[in-house]
Amino acid sequence: MRYGAVATNPPEWFALQMGMVPLPILDTLLGPIQGRALIAAERLGLFEALSAGPATAEALAKTRGLDRECTTLVLRLIRAMGYVDLADGRFALSKLGEAHFGRAARESYRAFVEYGLPQWEMVSRIEEVVKTGAGIDFHEHHDAGEWDAYQRAMVENARGFGWFVAKHMPVPAGATSCIDIAGAHGLIGAMLCRKHPGLRSTVLDRAEALPRARQIAESLGHADVVTFREGDLRRDELGSGLDVALLCNILHHFTPAENVEILRRTKKALKPGGSVGIFDIETPADDAAPDAAGDAFALYFRITSTSSCFRGDDYVGWLREAGFSQTRVVRSVKMPSRMLVIGTT
Ligand SMILES: C[S@@+](CC[C@H](N)C(=O)[O-])C[C@H]1O[C@@H](n2cnc3c(N)ncnc32)[C@H](O)[C@@H]1O
Repeated sequence: MRYGAVATNPPEWFALQMGMVPLPILDTLLGPIQGRALIAAERLGLFEALSAGPATAEALAKTRGLDRECTTLVLRLIRAMGYVDLADGRFALSKLGEAHFGRAARESYRAFVEYGLPQWEMVSRIEEVVKTGAGIDFHEHHDAGEWDAYQRAMVENARGFGWFVAKHMPVPAGATSCIDIAGAHGLIGAMLCRKHPGLRSTVLDRAEALPRARQIAESLGHADVVTFREGDLRRDELGSGLDVALLCNILHHFTPAENVEILRRTKKALKPGGSVGIFDIETPADDAAPDAAGDAFALYFRITSTSSCFRGDDYVGWLREAGFSQTRVVRSVKMPSRMLVIGTT
């Protein structure tokens, strides 16, 4: 996938073809200001206000206590991004805006966008990380408000891929117990439980995550199948005699040696015939075609964690080292740049 300047009319197309568009200026300013305007629109309540119906910039500015001119500028930019339309002088959520920011959004990303601000702050430290190689390890530094925003953002992200894990994860017949390691909101384990009646999931996560994670589970109505336990997956007991273990979007925080150790301990917690599933972003191979999404996420996680994204083959190797068999990587065109790596005890 690429992300960049897209011509919207023939003169622009011509200028792009002729190399007459100053792409470095656009890349330095246009992408970032778009992202930042989107975050601001959410944080300043413009999406919330627009979910109630179309409104002029003036009315929106007045109800939200904002400057009219600057509000108009933000609205115009998010209109250029496709999230709002303008008709008869009134802004309204577009179809795309409704889908992601409306009151009945089918795929809400409001919390994820709100969490964009801490993410921006971390990314702005890129030079420091590239010079030292020492990632930020944000789990050690977030304040209470950031933990809250992080957990709310993660559940929105999980809604987009949970079905994939639930569909492809092998679950032994008659399975009753799943550990959702670093499972946060618990949605992935819950989706697996719904598919396999009789299965119950326990989230193991850091203390800072749990207050909001529990609330999310309640609000999503899966508190009947998910329980929560505080713990550090690097050192605390994972359990014993379990049927299934999930490790979704977590192992990119740890080094290869730490991951082998985590997987060894995961294997010990599972009963014979139990299964493990690792869902994560797959970093592109060194010689792969340029992939702005895969490469950007790889860099993002290298900055924000202490490790990086890996390849399916890396995980397969570590699973085997930890004693798992029947290992395989599931990829799908519906899940670009991501994968589920499976193993059996
Ligand atoms: C990116 S979220 C992933 C949440 C969920 N598995 C998902 O895929 O949506 C990472 C989670 O790992 C938790 N976490 C990070 N380090 C941990 C550790 N050492 N032990 C337990 N949980 C940890 C965080 O608190 C957070 O809830």
